[in-house]
Amino acid sequence: MDDLSLLEHLGEQSARLCEVTRTDSASVMRLLADLLGPAGSTALSEGPSWSSGIADDHTPVEFSVAFNTYGGPSLRILGEALASPAGTTANLAAAYRFIGAQADRFGLTTSRLARVRDLFASPDPNAVFALWFSLVFPPGQQPEFKIYLNPELRGADRAPDLVAEATRRLGVDAAYRAIVERACRSGELGRGDRLSFFALDLHDGPHARIKLYLSQYDAERSDVVHAAGLVDGIDTSELAAFCAVAGGGPGPYSGRPLVSSYTLAPGVAKPIGYSLYVPVRSYVRDDDEARDRVAILLDHFGFDATQLDAVIAAVARRSLHEGPGLIAHASLRLGPPRPGVTVYLSSEAYRAGARSARPVPVS
Ligand code: TRP
Repeated sequence: MDDLSLLEHLGEQSARLCEVTRTDSASVMRLLADLLGPAGSTALSEGPSWSSGIADDHTPVEFSVAFNTYGGPSLRILGEALASPAGTTANLAAAYRFIGAQADRFGLTTSRLARVRDLFASPDPNAVFALWFSLVFPPGQQPEFKIYLNPELRGADRAPDLVAEATRRLGVDAAYRAIVERACRSGELGRGDRLSFFALDLHDGPHARIKLYLSQYDAERSDVVHAAGLVDGIDTSELAAFCAVAGGGPGPYSGRPLVSSYTLAPGVAKPIGYSLYVPVRSYVRDDDEARDRVAILLDHFGFDATQLDAVIAAVARRSLHEGPGLIAHASLRLGPPRPGVTVYLSSEAYRAGARSARPVPVS
């Protein structure tokens, strides 16, 4: 068996994903190499150099493909910049170096980040992460960058105050208060309802977003329907149907949490966009079942489900029967800028037995 490096492994998968999504793979490879730094050249057999929270097996990268209502599917990469040696604080410094290196090339805007950066600057040594990236590759366009900051970097109990201050500085605190008062379950903020990510787009186009993620543990489907109902224009029956198909029923969801994200806009008293992320892998027997559920969802929302199999084949190195985990989440994006369904795929670089030189055909 070939012992590929982490970057080679991710490169093979992303090259095939780029074919499906018509993305320039050279640009993807260059960004992956910059992001991973020296960790990119470590052999897979050495195991992960950092216990990244991005994926269950600590691969510091997760792929996703967004099926869009307007336009073709697009590739996205969730990733963590890795320092050598890695650690939450050292990785944060590597993340800022990565931003610095890309800022000129891609004309990134960091003014919003600059206003809150100090709040998210000193993670506890045991914090899961300090800053993650989402790299979005709209076909034929320049990549877009989003960062995720960790509101729980100094403990789950301190996250609400931290987000209150960050949203105040960015002029979106009214929408934050609406989430706390009207979306969260009563008495659960900082307990069962956790503020898991605070995200900023690093551009200043008309769709530049500020997003807040709410992870609800042991939730019923009705809890997320309630949480989504805060946002105007949400079709809550579609949302309920999506949740039931992706998660296999009404709940309670006692495995990984259901996650809601809210788009916040300055001067608007409520969030203006909503997405639901269902951690499918916690609620299926294996990836065959996960694939079938996502295919039903794509079909229901008018997307070409045959593209799903191409996407899975691009990443899979094992049979889907072997167990769950390849399809990590499925999400429903409601409202602008890009409504649609997204499927999240684990690279499984470090999953035992998942490595073979050739991908296993998916039937
Ligand atoms: N692996 C983490 C989790 O499952 C973080 C994560 C990766 C995540 N991709 C995600 C969280 C998509 C929500 C949605 O929680």
